[in-house]
Amino acid sequence: DRQIWLSRHGESTDNAIGKIGGDSPLSEKGRKFGECLSRFIFKQKVLFRQKQMDEYRSASTSSLPTSVPQVKNFLVWTSMLKRTIETVENFDQREFDIMHIRFLNEIYAGLCEEMSHSEIEIKYPEEYSERRKNKLYYRYPGMGGESYLDVIHRINPLIVELERMTDNILIVTHQVVLRILLAYFLDVEKEKVPNMEVPLHTIYCLQPKAYDTELKRWKYDE
Ligand code: F6P
Repeated sequence: DRQIWLSRHGESTDNAIGKIGGDSPLSEKGRKFGECLSRFIFKQKVLFRQKQMDEYRSASTSSLPTSVPQVKNFLVWTSMLKRTIETVENFDQREFDIMHIRFLNEIYAGLCEEMSHSEIEIKYPEEYSERRKNKLYYRYPGMGGESYLDVIHRINPLIVELERMTDNILIVTHQVVLRILLAYFLDVEKEKVPNMEVPLHTIYCLQPKAYDTELKRWKYDE
């Protein structure tokens, strides 16, 4: 048994004013979420270990002696953007293996980076309506601009790695990447991915089982 924990970063100062993309730091609210996340995940790590030991104790009274289960590594992956890195800054590095990975960055909105949706609608009305018509295939204009499909391809190698490993892990990432990861594990069709509800300050736990994946969700009470 292993657990994959997923969350978006805490609220950033750009989230608070409705701007997309960019690399802004956390707002005060976002920092509070980060503190709470570190306590919550540490508690989950302890509970996981207790459950593992309980299972071991009840198995070893009934059958042949088995060895004590190893403590699982607990990885924490974030993107390379400030808002995810700051979200995990309270995590204890002796308890968690923390890594920052560019593949987990948010969709890059090219010329529309750091604009609000209404600014995009005014400045680039055609782009705005193209995206509304087909959010999955639409690629933002300008150097490096991405579409949902581009992000799906970008994070594919990470999904392969996640499937392969057996460690517990927390991934702190962004709206688009979180939608794609959840959709992959929960078998949601591609067309539905761009409109999935994945609010800020919500923590998901996936537990892959033999035939499906169990999902639990916690909403941070602000
Ligand atoms: O607004 C936060 C954000 O993560 C942006 O950086 C990003 O462009 C957007 O959400 C993605 O959501 P959607 O595809 O629904 O615009």
